[in-house]
Amino acid sequence: MVNLGFSIGPLRFRNPVLTASGTCGYGTELDDFMDVSRLGGIVLKGTTMEPREGNPYPRMAETPSGMLNSVGLQNKGIEYFEKHIYPHVSLYNTNIIVNINGSIIEDYVALAERIDRLEKIPAIELNISCPNVKMGGMAFGTNTVSAREVIKAVRSVYSKILIVKLSPNVTDIVQFAGIAEEEGADSISLINTLLGMAIDTRTMKSSLSTVTGGLSGPAIKPIALRMVWQVAKAVKIPVIGIGGIMTPSDAIEFLLAGAAAIQIGTATFIDPQTSVRIVEGIENYLITKGFDDIRDLIGFVNKA
Ligand code: FUM
Repeated sequence: MVNLGFSIGPLRFRNPVLTASGTCGYGTELDDFMDVSRLGGIVLKGTTMEPREGNPYPRMAETPSGMLNSVGLQNKGIEYFEKHIYPHVSLYNTNIIVNINGSIIEDYVALAERIDRLEKIPAIELNISCPNVKMGGMAFGTNTVSAREVIKAVRSVYSKILIVKLSPNVTDIVQFAGIAEEEGADSISLINTLLGMAIDTRTMKSSLSTVTGGLSGPAIKPIALRMVWQVAKAVKIPVIGIGGIMTPSDAIEFLLAGAAAIQIGTATFIDPQTSVRIVEGIENYLITKGFDDIRDLIGFVNKA
């Protein structure tokens, strides 16, 4: 038996594999393919105070080794979530994390307060990195002053585990990770998508209605890995690696770089069972390497 478990503060995860927000809906979308309780946790779709229709179509485009999206945080708002989604997701036997979003700081604060009251939600992921909205999102996460303000404000009202999701669209991601840690985040997740663009040469227009969108998938993995490695060396709180993880080997690279856990995003669109296969793959790797605890892998690349 090998130990795959890890903790963020007092919150225990049975293994380090989580789904990434926006790629598994509310978890129910995966029910036909796997038992989500086999995962360390699921990060639910980005949620806002009010319902949002998202951006006009087209809002997805395939690119070499990846995809662009500009969904625009389509969701039915917190009230719908509380009434219709929460009763179902609270039955899952794993950690349910809500990804929260807002246009202004007050939105984030109000949302955090509402979710704090939901007993079966032990953590939120504060999304200051969505590149597809006109207000809020990445605008908070690419400015050190506003990043600090929103994290501080949410921390002051939210009593459970606070994970801050960082944008890669900055010059120095370590600086933003440091701010999150200083303002009381329990963990940092990175990276959200890289701002990108594709043009359809038949129509001579952008492939997305919003012109730009967020790039994800294997194309961004080396960048994500480099940023996770930089951040994990710089902070003491656990780091969750995200970015183009398709295989157990990809996930293990992030752990070796210093991530305590990882999230699976775009890969779920190709094979909805990817995340459980990655749990199995990490376990097999540990056995093959003769390790009995996943902690032996974390940050191994830095060990002498
Ligand atoms: O457009 C979107 O809903 C993307 C959200 C995100 O990248 O955080």
